Amino acid sequence: MDILLVGCGKMGGAMLRRWLDAMPARFAAVNRSGRALPPGTEHATGADALNGRRFDAIVIAVKPQQIPDALPAYTGLLAEDGCYVSIAAGFSAASIGKIVGDKPVVRIMPNLPALIGRSVNGLYANAACGEAHRELANQLARATGTAVWLDSEDELDRLTAVAGSGPGYVFEITRSYVAAAEAMGFSPETARALVLETMGGAVEMATRSQDDVTDLRNSVMSKKGTTEAGINALRRDGLLDTLLEDTIRAAYDRAVELR
Ligand SMILES: NC(=O)c1ccc[n+]([C@@H]2O[C@H](COP(=O)([O-])OP(=O)(O)OC[C@H]3O[C@@H](n4cnc5c(N)ncnc54)[C@H](OP(=O)(O)O)[C@@H]3O)[C@@H](O)[C@H]2O)c1
Repeated sequence: MDILLVGCGKMGGAMLRRWLDAMPARFAAVNRSGRALPPGTEHATGADALNGRRFDAIVIAVKPQQIPDALPAYTGLLAEDGCYVSIAAGFSAASIGKIVGDKPVVRIMPNLPALIGRSVNGLYANAACGEAHRELANQLARATGTAVWLDSEDELDRLTAVAGSGPGYVFEITRSYVAAAEAMGFSPETARALVLETMGGAVEMATRSQDDVTDLRNSVMSKKGTTEAGINALRRDGLLDTLLEDTIRAAYDRAVELR
């Protein structure tokens, strides 16, 4: 099986590294800026360099806004029974169809922990996809993390807002938590270690537990204790809930704009 990756930046590059380890396929990547590609990848400077070749899948991993400019050059390189796989946020299968015609398109919405095999992947296949295309997309997703099949692209956009963009929220919340720890007098290194270990331990515990997270939160809040005092401040005026709802809604609205 031959797979072409168009766009080998942060996300495409992260997924490619996992695919090379996990999949018995040959990978070529379009790498215009000449950055180092993982060993085993065929380097291509552009569509012209691949003239005459046919790929079983073309993975679209450029920015959504770059697709209309980038993709047309590659449409002649798809094998007769091949499919497009897009990891671009928002950009719909119908919009891809306007460029490539009535072809099988699977959208995979990953997130950056693909780098460590922990991507949360949402998948959606258009009506032109057959079982083989879905199976290939499933393998591509599973090599980087989990695979959740969705029935509509709206659901995929909602997953994008929660999970695709999610690591960014977590890094921002972590940054703020570390800054608050520094404000308590800890060095940047100690503050970072304290916060990351605390977050990692709490998330791991919640993952392993059958309990609802509200019950877990309540279990660490003793009456008039320190945690209760902190949580009361954190939940003051319900701002946290509103902030996170607004965060996810803004990402969803942007995905809708990109369709
Ligand atoms: N980053 C994330 O956390 C994340 C999460 C979920 C989904 N995604 C999706 O993943 C896609 C890529 O995002 P990214 O963060 O990896 O962006 P990125 O780091 O900017 O990578 C985009 C890549 O596309 C290449 N490119 C641009 N125009 C091209 C063209 N005409 N022909 C060939 N290659 C071209 C760029 O190559 P040059 O550097 O050579 O210009 C660059 O390597 C986006 O559609 C995004 O929605 C990203």
